[in-house]
Amino acid sequence: MLATQILFLSTLLPLLQAQETVLGVYIFHRHGDRTSKNFVPTTLTDLGYYQVHAAGDFYRNRYIDANATSKIFGISSDLVKNSQLSVEAPVDTVLQNSAAGFLQGLYPPVGVTLGTQKLANGTSVEAPLGGFQLIPVNAIASAASGANSENSQWLQGQSGCNNAIISSNNYFFSQEYMTELNKTMDFYHSVLPVVNGTFSLAQDNFKNAYLIYDLVHVSQIHNSSIPSDNLLTPETVFQLQTLADNHEYNLAFNLSEPIRAIAGSVLAAQIVQQLNMTITGKSKSQIGIQFGAYASFLSFFGLAQLPKVSDNFTGIVDYASSMTFELVTNATVTDTSYPSNDQISVRFLFSNGTTSEHPLTPYPLFGQSETVLPWNTFVDQMNQFAIGDQADWCTKCGNSTGVCASATSTSTGASGSTTSSPSAGGISKAVAGVIGAMVTLAVILGVEALIMLLAGLRVVNKKRLSGRASPESASAVAKA
Ligand SMILES: *[C@@H]1O[C@H](CO)[C@@H](O)[C@H](O)[C@H]1NC(C)=O
Ligand SMILES: *[C@@H]1O[C@H](CO)[C@@H](O)[C@H](O)[C@H]1NC(C)=O
Ligand SMILES: *[C@@H]1O[C@H](CO)[C@@H](O)[C@H](O)[C@H]1NC(C)=O
Ligand SMILES: *[C@@H]1O[C@H](CO)[C@@H](O)[C@H](O)[C@H]1NC(C)=O
Ligand SMILES: *[C@@H]1O[C@H](CO)[C@@H](O)[C@H](O)[C@H]1NC(C)=O
Ligand SMILES: *[C@@H]1O[C@H](CO)[C@@H](O)[C@H](O)[C@H]1NC(C)=O
Ligand SMILES: *[C@@H]1O[C@H](CO)[C@@H](O)[C@H](O)[C@H]1NC(C)=O
Ligand SMILES: *[C@@H]1O[C@H](CO)[C@@H](O)[C@H](O)[C@H]1NC(C)=O
Ligand SMILES: *[C@@H]1O[C@H](CO)[C@@H](O)[C@H](O)[C@H]1NC(C)=O
Ligand SMILES: *[C@@H]1O[C@H](CO)[C@@H](O)[C@H](O)[C@H]1NC(C)=O
Ligand SMILES: *[C@@H]1O[C@H](CO)[C@@H](O)[C@H](O)[C@H]1NC(C)=O
Repeated sequence: MLATQILFLSTLLPLLQAQETVLGVYIFHRHGDRTSKNFVPTTLTDLGYYQVHAAGDFYRNRYIDANATSKIFGISSDLVKNSQLSVEAPVDTVLQNSAAGFLQGLYPPVGVTLGTQKLANGTSVEAPLGGFQLIPVNAIASAASGANSENSQWLQGQSGCNNAIISSNNYFFSQEYMTELNKTMDFYHSVLPVVNGTFSLAQDNFKNAYLIYDLVHVSQIHNSSIPSDNLLTPETVFQLQTLADNHEYNLAFNLSEPIRAIAGSVLAAQIVQQLNMTITGKSKSQIGIQFGAYASFLSFFGLAQLPKVSDNFTGIVDYASSMTFELVTNATVTDTSYPSNDQISVRFLFSNGTTSEHPLTPYPLFGQSETVLPWNTFVDQMNQFAIGDQADWCTKCGNSTGVCASATSTSTGASGSTTSSPSAGGISKAVAGVIGAMVTLAVILGVEALIMLLAGLRVVNKKRLSGRASPESASAVAKA
């Protein structure tokens, strides 16, 4: 009897081994529905809150819940362990609130039983709001999505990267742009009666393609009446959207000028760093989540050659869209055996809108055919365009002042004249400082991971404290 059971189990074993295990994920997420960028300050709407919350709930059922379909190795299912999670968003109300709403879906209130702690004197204390869980959203201002990005009309301005700003600006002098501007003049004037409350005749053209589309799109969702809305046929709205797509994609990416996609380059480095941290820490920190702007998606799509898969990747992603990088393995994973780098792969997935309503679909990156790439291949490919450290950023961006003054060591320059106080104000230094802070943070997290490894679980909570060590970046951004 026992023998047959063992036999039965051993036939199951190969099956169990072939079972894929998710070791960690990185999610880059757009905010939910918001008010129009034409009227600042922009805010997340109830619909937007609903969308990001539903997305959080979707990811919970995929990765975290006790019965999740692809449960992440070692992840805490109900009570959040903040050391396992790194959540970031720029200092921007819409993006910060989107992250907070998402987290409520990811780790919902736990109720009285789990949400109660006993004190030394025997009194029990219930957490407020039915065991609502507190999860910090770290403030960052990388070039991936700048501070206040949802209040900004042109996202590249937030990057602080000189060569990227010049490159994007050059778009407005390109033949492509001139042709489009000219060709669409009549079309834009035909919709003037719809938008003339906000745009003058002189402003109503392709130069403002995104803002005009944003006004119409937001109004169609929220305004019970729109002036001259008989002009807004589905074809016209589609045309407005397509022109906005074209405009924004060209500002975010140009094959001949990769620096234009600085947002995607910085994001690529952040993704590799987080996933690498998951591996080196043996899944002690498994989830990285960043909320950011659509332009960062477009820059990354261009760099990762996703438009080769489909033209869809040159369009602005819908609200609450997300792209997800899963770290997966078919090797056996236990507390005592962790797969080696060459047993680990990465799967890229994208959902065009909230994942609760739009399927999370795998796509092949880097012009390859496989949707699951070996970790080493993934890293090599990402590193072709990733920009992760400050000196590299300064060189490629052609910035040499502020923080970049010390980062780029010029052998010919007069070293004495370049020193300047790091606390001297100005947007440029703030942004550069934040990038520096991020690199520092990554180093801290890496060291912490090592300490955790050596000292065991009790140190985990300390890591959470240092993980929050970005008031540095927050204050830097506040100056910007
Ligand atoms: C897991 O269980 C919960 C509660 O029973 C349920 O709401 C949820 O849909 C389940 N998730 C999956 C992925 O089956
Ligand atoms: C126990 O300690 C808590 C917190 O200090 C206090 O609020 C509560 O009144 C104490 N209960 C008793 C029975 O002393
Ligand atoms: C892309 O860059 C090339 C080379 O600098 C330039 O000729 C072209 O006009 C640019 N295209 C756009 C759309 O900016
Ligand atoms: C558009 O191009 C045509 C022909 O090349 C030219 O005559 C016209 O002046 C241009 N219009 C604008 C608004 O630039
Ligand atoms: C906008 O255009 C419509 C139709 O031409 C006109 O009735 C309305 O007064 C205009 N509104 C503004 C603010 O100019
Ligand atoms: C939609 O409503 C907002 C707020 O009332 C208003 O500012 C905006 O101009 C309206 N949209 C259009 C196209 O009129
Ligand atoms: C991963 O982290 C380790 C330890 O910090 C480092 O040595 C290694 O170069 C990193 N690998 C990648 C691909 O970033
Ligand atoms: C591109 O978008 C269209 C329309 O939404 C959809 O039917 C098609 O499947 C998409 N293609 C890819 C490769 O996702
Ligand atoms: C996402 O949907 C929008 C339409 O709402 C479309 O323009 C865009 O191409 C889509 N992107 C992808 C990657 O499917
Ligand atoms: C695991 O094995 C399955 C079945 O052979 C395969 O489809 C999947 O891509 C593999 N996953 C990895 C990470 O190698
Ligand atoms: C880089 O240089 C540009 C142009 O001088 C400047 O606007 C920007 O603020 C600088 N960025 C940083 C981070 O110093």
